[in-house]
Amino acid sequence: MNAKETIKKALGAIEDPSNNQTFEQNNAVRYVSVEEDENKVNLVIGIAKDDDETKKQVKRRIAKVIKIDLGYKGLKIDFELLKKKDSIVDEKRKIKYIGVASGKGGVGKSTVAANLAVALKRIGKQVGIIDADIYGSSIPTLFNMDILAPRADENEKIIPFETHGIELISTEFFIKDDKPVMWRGPMLGKMLNNFFYDVAWKEDIEYIVVDLPPGTGDVALDIQKLIPESEMVIVTTPHPSASHIARRAGYAAKSLNHDILGVVENMAWLNHNGEALKIFGEGGGKEVSDKLETDLLQQIPIGQPEDGHPGIYSMGEDIGVAYIGLANKLVKTIEDK
Ligand SMILES: Nc1ncnc2c1ncn2[C@@H]1O[C@H](COP(=O)(O)OP(=O)(O)OP(=O)(O)O)[C@@H](O)[C@H]1O
Ligand SMILES: [Mg+2]
Repeated sequence: MNAKETIKKALGAIEDPSNNQTFEQNNAVRYVSVEEDENKVNLVIGIAKDDDETKKQVKRRIAKVIKIDLGYKGLKIDFELLKKKDSIVDEKRKIKYIGVASGKGGVGKSTVAANLAVALKRIGKQVGIIDADIYGSSIPTLFNMDILAPRADENEKIIPFETHGIELISTEFFIKDDKPVMWRGPMLGKMLNNFFYDVAWKEDIEYIVVDLPPGTGDVALDIQKLIPESEMVIVTTPHPSASHIARRAGYAAKSLNHDILGVVENMAWLNHNGEALKIFGEGGGKEVSDKLETDLLQQIPIGQPEDGHPGIYSMGEDIGVAYIGLANKLVKTIEDK
């Protein structure tokens, strides 16, 4: 091993205090040079958070390794900000996040997120779902699950729950006594950070569907800002009045650099004696997808799941089949990129 490799290896175990990952996990050692005659090391280090306290702590940890453990006299450190995707943990696993967003509440966003996750599993993908709707978490109910307190594994990572063959984590599991919680600022950031970086997902997980809070208000945008780069699906109902609000959600996602995969029009019609009744109007999905210059991926008709299930349609139902169509289109779009 030459001097540079030795240094890189010795620095690998240092932990970045702002995301609790090691330099090796963060792929943080960007550049190493050694000036032999001056016995000096120059480094460029990627850090997760650009604040003085992080830098101070990281500097101290690096100085211990370079000066005390390895015996160099001089040390110069330049910092640069890590991009979220720099973490090799995610790179290795190639997790794709699919965020499900809507302009307003009640359009079926959570239903779409849950059924999309199940459909991805049914076409053979390994899937997780994050219920990040802090206003009205409903994913556990849709899956007919009891609310249990989550456990942590030996590395302090949250162990997700399993249902319908997919793994799940929800804000609901962290709320005590049904009290509404106003997650804001640092607390919100901390919780989401846990959701996105500290869950012990299965090793082979491929897709994580995220149920986002509805709307384009502060909290919805904060959350979109805090999630890793995601592919977005916008849910709307057929009514034109709903569609312009959904469009705004799409523009917000775009402005935050999330890629929009397309639009799902939910509650598109009701099948009644062989006739499609457009009881919520029509054209909303097409209007949103045209304006956002993306595809109308799927129209989902109105209908309750058979066999009394609270939220998940079976493969034997038209709506269950429509979700398989949606999952196939999304996978194709993502994998063709
Ligand atoms: N295609 C559909 N046909 C019939 N009912 C539906 C359909 N999609 C959703 N629903 C019902 O509409 C209601 C709202 O759905 P859901 O909770 O998924 O919406 P949401 O957009 O997540 O709402 P919220 O803003 O409250 O989170 C639920 O009772 C759900 O069962
Ligand atoms: Mg919901």
